[in-house]
Amino acid sequence: MALSSLVSSGVLLRGLCRLTLPRLSAVAPSRVPFCASTAARAQKEWIEVTYQKADGTSYTVQGKEGDNLLDVAINNDLDLDGFGACEGTLACSTCHLVFKKEDFDNIEEMCTDEELDMLDLAYGLTDESRLGCQVCLNKKLNGITVKVPEGVADARTA
Ligand code: FES
Repeated sequence: MALSSLVSSGVLLRGLCRLTLPRLSAVAPSRVPFCASTAARAQKEWIEVTYQKADGTSYTVQGKEGDNLLDVAINNDLDLDGFGACEGTLACSTCHLVFKKEDFDNIEEMCTDEELDMLDLAYGLTDESRLGCQVCLNKKLNGITVKVPEGVADARTA
């Protein structure tokens, strides 16, 4: 059989693939790829955050860079009554947090119209208010303190 007919029939290509591609079972366990997002998260830095409640109680916890402030509160099982009622679907405003001005300016996520609509329903709104489920940790936010307002407003029940 001529070389050109082997190529056009795919026989040569299939043979080359068998010779050059390692079989999955031949790859050492340490080289088997695993979930990229898990690997990427593991490489990210821990960021410290203090949640300060209106009654003076505060919790200093850590979250990974990229985690939002609702996830950090949930992952650390913080006692924040009613916080995050809609589980981050931008439908309640119960995850309202107040930042210090200098920290507020270091938030990387822009406030969307949908977030502003929810914030309008929050108790104790300030110029440095954001919804925790919309703010992700970054290195510049390491060591921040956020205030958890006393009242929570769940827009779904208004
Ligand atoms: S958890 Fe409901 S808006 Fe953030």
